[in-house]
Amino acid sequence: MAMTTTMKVPFVDLQAQHAALRPEIERAVSGLLDRGDFILGAEVERFEHDYAAFIGAKHAIGVGTGLSAIEIALRGFGIGAGDEVITPANTFIATVLAILAAGATPVFVDMDPATYSIDPRAIDAAVTSRTRAIVPVHLYGQPVDLDAVMAIAARHHLIVVEDAAQAHGARYKGRRAGSVGHAAAFSFYPSKNLGAIGDGGMVTTSDDGAAARMRLLRNYGQRVKYHHSIVGTNSRLDTLQAAVLRIKLPRLDAWNAARRRHADAYRARLQDAVQTPATAAGVEHIFHLYVIETDRRDALQARLKAMQIDTGIHYPVPAHLQEACAPLGGRPGMFPATEAAARRILSLPMFAELSERQIDYVADAVRS
Ligand SMILES: Cc1ncc(COP(=O)(O)O)c(C=O)c1O
Repeated sequence: MAMTTTMKVPFVDLQAQHAALRPEIERAVSGLLDRGDFILGAEVERFEHDYAAFIGAKHAIGVGTGLSAIEIALRGFGIGAGDEVITPANTFIATVLAILAAGATPVFVDMDPATYSIDPRAIDAAVTSRTRAIVPVHLYGQPVDLDAVMAIAARHHLIVVEDAAQAHGARYKGRRAGSVGHAAAFSFYPSKNLGAIGDGGMVTTSDDGAAARMRLLRNYGQRVKYHHSIVGTNSRLDTLQAAVLRIKLPRLDAWNAARRRHADAYRARLQDAVQTPATAAGVEHIFHLYVIETDRRDALQARLKAMQIDTGIHYPVPAHLQEACAPLGGRPGMFPATEAAARRILSLPMFAELSERQIDYVADAVRS
């Protein structure tokens, strides 16, 4: 059937989510204004408690951003100068910048083209006598093969910090992403599946000693005000963001379920036209991003834009080929699966409030 009307489909629609929550958010903000409670305090503690319980970790430590969460998680385990940290080349630059910020050296590896997840065989091959940690990334909302990663880590005595910035609530063999590694890092950037109304991040861990160190690290290394026991930084989860995130957390599983339904609908309509995402056995993908592949990516993106459909490319330049990473010695051809995907991937609109009409419109546009 020919399409006669155009419809605007945003990539994400934060207004739709906030419209429903606005009265609750306004009450929470006005409560904070009344109390003058702006830095850490009860709201942050309550949200840390709720989030740790949700993930299934003993501790949750609220920090300023997702980038900072990865850095603080690594530093919490004493990883820094002289240490190598293995991470995938197909990730957002923050993963790499966090490893560098901790003082360590990122060592890139390729992905499994079926899932976009770090290739466990490539990790094994990249381990040297200086390797101290692995930062696998649950890219697009799909948990990596954590059993394989943890087995390699155990064999070589490495720390695993899950980059779960795109995977709030996703499950690996029944356990939440963020509860399997030695620590995990989350981002609450507004467009994430659990997003703040500004920046925010969280580290989860079940290691008591590392958790205590991370609490010091995020707050100037101070145990008692103006007494600084270690070299820390200022990276605290904002109290206002904690209050908003606490309102949103109980809705997260329902929002993720809606994203999975939308992914099923996209797959049913698109699988014979483009490559649709595969979900590995035993994992629950939460579709932070819905990423298709096609040889004619740029033409398709331009056509969708002309039809008022916003899309994204996550990510157009792999980390090892970023100009900022040149000192790390990355060269084209090093990671064939990652580099091939970067030329073919396209992220379609995906958010919980996406309507069936919007999905039909996007799917028809892609097929046309
Ligand atoms: C995979 C990944 N890691 C880390 C981050 C960093 O999070 P933030 O933007 O909160 O610093 C993000 C998101 O932006 C991300 O997608």
